[in-house]
Amino acid sequence: MPTKNYSDFVVRYSLTLNDFFQKAFVARVQNPELREILSYSVLAGGKRIRPLLFLATLHELGQEITDEHIKVAGGIELIHTYSLVHDDLPAMDNDDYRRGQLTSHKKFGEAQAILSGDALLTLGINWIAMAKLDASAIQQVIQIMTETSGVNGMIEGQYLDIVSTNHELSLAEIKVMEEKKTAELIIGAVKSACVLGQATEEQTENLVSFAEKFGQAFQIYDDLVDSLETSAEAGKATSKDEERGKNNYANTQGIASAQSDLTELIELMKQDLAAFDAGVLPEFANVFKKVLVND
Ligand code: IPE
Ligand code: IPE
Ligand code: MG
Ligand code: MG
Ligand code: MG
Repeated sequence: MPTKNYSDFVVRYSLTLNDFFQKAFVARVQNPELREILSYSVLAGGKRIRPLLFLATLHELGQEITDEHIKVAGGIELIHTYSLVHDDLPAMDNDDYRRGQLTSHKKFGEAQAILSGDALLTLGINWIAMAKLDASAIQQVIQIMTETSGVNGMIEGQYLDIVSTNHELSLAEIKVMEEKKTAELIIGAVKSACVLGQATEEQTENLVSFAEKFGQAFQIYDDLVDSLETSAEAGKATSKDEERGKNNYANTQGIASAQSDLTELIELMKQDLAAFDAGVLPEFANVFKKVLVND
């Protein structure tokens, strides 16, 4: 049953995804300790922005969401969760908290967290490959997701982040780094939905343009979260990027300017979605509100 209410959509599909993760981990992960380590990071929550965007795009394209779409959405979330587990490792950002609890390496050990990231990535791709949807469309989705999360996408972005630590990048360089490390996976989720939802060329162009802006906005938002939120609010350490020599949009531009760039991106996103029936997609920008309202 289609819904046009954003909160209903988020609640409904977040629950569906959690239920799917629980069952799929029991069915697909044989070793109980590995199952616990994977479940720990995935079931801790998180905003589920990427799989929800994937599902909302399908919804916008008039597709009825099936269990097979949920499998692909779950795969996308596993790829994202792997990136978080590895991002937090001592050799990367060295963080102790994620999604409101100890990071995987703090809880289970570093080798375990590395392996759990490896497992989440490969299992995520496997879930996408196993979805019983049009075989040629699934082949395209696998190509899209491995490219956007891969060596010319998210991994390159993470690499640029790591090698630029303690030396200042220009704003143009920060934009490239943030587009790669964060926007690419978000673009991948929306592009995948365009393929599976048989979007026209024009629809794809508009939806991908929306995703590019949403992705850029999402890392500006994350950089603002680092400056504006407490660790308890964010569920992860904050006020740390500057101190650790991390290039961060809000620190480079200043908070007010980052907020105004974010507001402008939100306006531009609306234009990309103008041709669509006002579904839930435009309201994904709601996630950014908490770093825009200062009271
Ligand atoms: C955090 O992503 C890392 C970035 C790419 C900005 P999210 O803010 O989506 O993290 P969760 O999934 O909600 O925990
Ligand atoms: C992470 O960026 C991007 C990823 C690909 C995981 P950050 O390092 O800023 O994300 P947080 O702040 O730790 O969530
Ligand atoms: Mg990082
Ligand atoms: Mg980090
Ligand atoms: Mg951050």
